[in-house]
Amino acid sequence: MKILVVGSGGREHTIIRKLKESPRVDKIYAAPGNGGISRDAECVSIGAMDKEGISDFALKNNIDIVFVAPDDPLAAGMVDALNEKGIRAFGPKANAAIIESSKVFSKNLMKKYGIPTADYEVFDDPSKVMEYIDSKNRYPVVIKADGLALGKGVIIALDRNEAQAAVKEIMEDKKFGDSGNNVVVEEFLTGPEVSVLAFTDGKVVKPMVSSKDHKRAYDNDEGLNTGGMGTISPNPYYTDEIAEICRKTIFEPTIAAMNSEGRPFKGCLYFGLMITPNGPKVIEYNARFGDPEAQVVLPRLKTDLVDIIEAVIDEKLGELDIEWSEDAAACVVMASGGYPLSYPKGLEISGLDDNGQVEGATVYHAGTKLENGKFYTNGGRVLGITASGKTLDEALAKAYSAVEKITFDGAHYRKDIGKTK
Ligand code: AMP
Ligand code: GLY
Repeated sequence: MKILVVGSGGREHTIIRKLKESPRVDKIYAAPGNGGISRDAECVSIGAMDKEGISDFALKNNIDIVFVAPDDPLAAGMVDALNEKGIRAFGPKANAAIIESSKVFSKNLMKKYGIPTADYEVFDDPSKVMEYIDSKNRYPVVIKADGLALGKGVIIALDRNEAQAAVKEIMEDKKFGDSGNNVVVEEFLTGPEVSVLAFTDGKVVKPMVSSKDHKRAYDNDEGLNTGGMGTISPNPYYTDEIAEICRKTIFEPTIAAMNSEGRPFKGCLYFGLMITPNGPKVIEYNARFGDPEAQVVLPRLKTDLVDIIEAVIDEKLGELDIEWSEDAAACVVMASGGYPLSYPKGLEISGLDDNGQVEGATVYHAGTKLENGKFYTNGGRVLGITASGKTLDEALAKAYSAVEKITFDGAHYRKDIGKTK
């Protein structure tokens, strides 16, 4: 088979390395890919949002399956466009990807179908937001831009000044563009967070092994929210008992709700959960694999990923048993100095071999380019260094010892992955 993976980050590199393990795969392309990905797939310079370009390439090259990995092209209808041309694609159509691309949609869905989530109100008028926040007068308060914002559109305001600044930034200064036309103001919840990715063909939902992301930029969960600075799998807070509650109250009801709305979801649905004192609640949905959750979940997958992709597309997931390794996995993200704010690009990375790897771990490339045989930084999150072990501590020790072999100017990474709630 020939498979084309759309995207250019660490998640896409992980997917590609997993696909490479399949005896059914002859050739993998990435559009557009990155420096590290070019060691595992043929990168073609077509942008991830270029529906025409991707469809044309797929037709001309007899691509069997297009795997659409990032949120933006899914929300923009990449899968719809491919299907219209008769191309098989993995990922939800736009009318289902909205579960991620509009927080207003997902919050209203949860309310309508009784799926546990934080209490909230939606606003399109900045003055009304502050009126509401003042009437509640409870801090912290959570303020979220409605649309996609690279995981950065959520502000937890500790007092009135911070709330006012957040509302101004999102709704008036339009820091996230039209994503901030509407905001969701939410009750602040507490408890450990869990990411559960699930395969679904719109009929059945099969949760993958659990994971935990570390979203803040710095140790002890300080600093700004990022796309994710590191992950572990399994998540120690996700017990069998909690998993069963989630299946009954969140996973299955969500799939049913999307069907009732005439928006069947096919692909990978990501449940961002918080285990609150009142039980598990949904913090967010994503319409795709998490990044860097994929980096610790997919290495544990024992079943052929191509079999799963086909079962999802053909709506036969119920017939497939999906197997997972008992090993734990850990991923430490090395980021550019300054990320998630502005950061330099084009800095040489040392310590990687010709394939962009180091001994003892797998290096998933997120933001790198390859020039004359050398790797350079080319994004905020640069590398995700991942290792497996019989225990989480073993996986973490291996990942960190690999991290120490890699350097670039200004590199920063968290030293406490796997240690915080
Ligand atoms: P989101 O992009 O919705 O996942 O939010 C990013 C992060 O903000 C989450 O991973 C949580 O750590 C935090 N967060 C979001 N919503 C809430 C909430 N209602 N209460 C507490 N923390 C939240
Ligand atoms: N790591 C969080 C996300 O992919 O949204």
